[in-house]
Amino acid sequence: MFKVCIQSLFLVSQNVSLKKLNDDLDGLEKDASNDITVASDQESLENLRIQLLGKKGRLSKILGSMGSLSGSDRPVIGQRANILKNQLQGLITDRLEDLKEKALKEKISSETIDVSAPSSGIRFGHRHPLISTTEQILDLFCGLGYEVQEGPEIETDYYNFEALNIPKEHPARDMQDTFYLENNLLLRTHTSPVQIRCLENSPPPIRIVAPGRVYRRDAVDSTHSPVFHQVEVLAIDEGLDFSHLRGTVMAFLKAFFGDLPIRFRASYFPFTEPSAEVDVQWRGKWLEVMGCGMVDPAVLEGLGIDPERWTGFAAGLGVERFCMVRHEIDDIRRLYTSDLRFLEQF
Ligand code: DAH
Repeated sequence: MFKVCIQSLFLVSQNVSLKKLNDDLDGLEKDASNDITVASDQESLENLRIQLLGKKGRLSKILGSMGSLSGSDRPVIGQRANILKNQLQGLITDRLEDLKEKALKEKISSETIDVSAPSSGIRFGHRHPLISTTEQILDLFCGLGYEVQEGPEIETDYYNFEALNIPKEHPARDMQDTFYLENNLLLRTHTSPVQIRCLENSPPPIRIVAPGRVYRRDAVDSTHSPVFHQVEVLAIDEGLDFSHLRGTVMAFLKAFFGDLPIRFRASYFPFTEPSAEVDVQWRGKWLEVMGCGMVDPAVLEGLGIDPERWTGFAAGLGVERFCMVRHEIDDIRRLYTSDLRFLEQF
């Protein structure tokens, strides 16, 4: 009786072990397939694989307790564990493929370049207002048949003064305080020397416009700078008189300024006779924008050009003034400070 009891007790304990291992395998199967499907990346899937199927994982633990089973139960659990192991391995492999594909897709979409997207802020520059003003001035004269010419900024005394009928000791030299260099050279004080260079190179008839930088030892204030820009105009032909000068200047100024009031004022320049200065009315005041006149016969004679046959007119425009009026700029110094907040407005 006692033996039977021990035996039946033993049987009971054996049955419990089998059932428990089956339950453990059920639990493992359920948890594992759930956890595998929700693993969100390759790393957590690998950790999960180690937890489930690794040497110290849940399945190994279950197999490790098989020792208490009867010889006939052991293969039952062993077989089931093997099937489960393969099944989980398969699920893990499938999930791994899915995750790899998902990661690849994410990488591709994060690296995709949308060639149609607006640019991410490459800033484009544009012409400086002084350059664009010069271009507009040249354009208008080119439309009247003038050709663009240029001359050097470092000039000789001859081209800057003498050939323009401004001999040494002439008081007109005081009108243009000059930066002198060595060897009788200087920084040109105006673009008028280009008149002489052009007439030397090509005899009349001639119609040219010459843009460029000029230099004077002026005190700096809101309308003066030691470096500024001019455009020189020269037309020499047979039969040109003051009406041609006036007509050309008026047509040009009207095209540039529209309806701003314009006035001619008698003036004096050594290289023109008669001479005039032209003002435009801006903000209720007259602002001088150019000098002009009929080319003085002495200048033509000095170049071997017969003033009885050839006559013409010349003008010198201050580009800064044109630019300031056009764009409502009140201080010339703004044009030279390279302040992008200012320049970006144009
Ligand atoms: N060169 C003169 C200046 O800078 C401006 C000027 C006046 C130019 C009369 C001319 C002209 O061609 O005819 O002050």
